[in-house]
Amino acid sequence: MNNFNFYSPTFFAFGKDTENDAGKLVRRFGGSKVLIHYGGGSVIRSGLLDRVKASLDSESIPYVLLGGVKPNPRSGLVYEGIELCKKENVDFVLAVGGGSSIDSAKAIAAGAVYDGDFWDFYSGKYIENALPIGTVLTISAAGSEGSPDSVITKEEGMFKRGATGDAIRPKFSILNPALTQTLPQYQTACGITDIMAHLYERYLTNTTEVEATDRMIEAHLLTMIHEGPRVIADPNNYAARANIMWAGMMAHNNSCGVGRSQDWNSHNIEHELSALYDCAHGAGLAVTMPAVFTYVMNHDVMRFAQIAVRVWGCQMDFACPENTAKAGIEALRSFLISIGMPKNFAELGAKEEDIDKLVDVLCNGNGRNGSISGFVTLDENDCRNIYKLMV
Ligand code: NZQ
Ligand code: ZN
Repeated sequence: MNNFNFYSPTFFAFGKDTENDAGKLVRRFGGSKVLIHYGGGSVIRSGLLDRVKASLDSESIPYVLLGGVKPNPRSGLVYEGIELCKKENVDFVLAVGGGSSIDSAKAIAAGAVYDGDFWDFYSGKYIENALPIGTVLTISAAGSEGSPDSVITKEEGMFKRGATGDAIRPKFSILNPALTQTLPQYQTACGITDIMAHLYERYLTNTTEVEATDRMIEAHLLTMIHEGPRVIADPNNYAARANIMWAGMMAHNNSCGVGRSQDWNSHNIEHELSALYDCAHGAGLAVTMPAVFTYVMNHDVMRFAQIAVRVWGCQMDFACPENTAKAGIEALRSFLISIGMPKNFAELGAKEEDIDKLVDVLCNGNGRNGSISGFVTLDENDCRNIYKLMV
């Protein structure tokens, strides 16, 4: 295991009706004027936004509203939010929604206290300062409720990049699993896929002797394999949704990823798909992961064989571990298809003729130099071959 620092000070309020504590928690973490930031309307239809507003009212905390965050959130609304915060002297940003609303809120919170263009953070500058952020989560997926990361799509060029900094870890996150019961089945499945991807991206490491974190990742993957089909069969299964919600947070607050190198090439390769086609991030990952894993498997076939045996219950083929590794990748692919995820470019809405464009933006866009690094460094040719495996 490598040396590491881990600082994860988010306060979690977990369980039924916890959204009614939003006002108290904003006060506890120093907010006196709030920007409530939300998406395309699900929180209005469900009545959640009204409950959050009532909770702030009961603490006499004033707020301004900015809705309209799209899935794969855009830079345009971030600029609008930054201006609004400055004009209204906002000192706390409260996201009510999914990863997109939370990521947009994080970008606004960082941009509101920065003199330059907030996009600097999405071009590699570490986020040192931000307004404090709180979240009321409505979908188990991105893990942004416990992560120091944010992903935004730049409208000029339609490419998607991430920013990071402990300053944008939420001060508090309200996790009420019942709020996810209104999700369409497809979005629930996209979330499960994203959570599994966050676990796989950490499992694929070049660091040796990482049994503690390996076992934590395996536990969360087994949870998703157990609870995923239950929640797809019965969207109102609170117990299954609760386990998925906590596993989703744990998958991405990096408690399972400390002290080890990580991959993130599946995410990098997927981000170009959701930026270009505006598909759901989880759906893109369902198509991307099996292709990437098949392509890089021989870099460390025993790692893929280990996850196949421990998580997917495959038999170890000692004479040919490659067979075991492949069986594990196929088990993942079948599981994702079984919960309703797409399996190829056509089902995702992606086009083979765009592959050169995808590769170019992936490997050369926004300061990259012809390759992406992770478990394996992949050059343009590798990335082209991986996209072709998805067709
Ligand atoms: O916009 P509304 O109307 O709220 O509808 C949303 C949206 O259409 C809907 N939804 C959310 N909760 C709902 C609901 N509908 C009914 N009932 C509910 N309870 O679901 C749709 C998807 O929402 P979104 O916020 O986009 O989902 P998700 O949480 O998957 O976030 C995806 C974004 O997170 C980024 C992705 O790239 C993508 O842009 N990621 C962020 C990460 C991070 N910050 O750490 C890491 C991830 O790997 C990921 O890249
Ligand atoms: Zn993700």
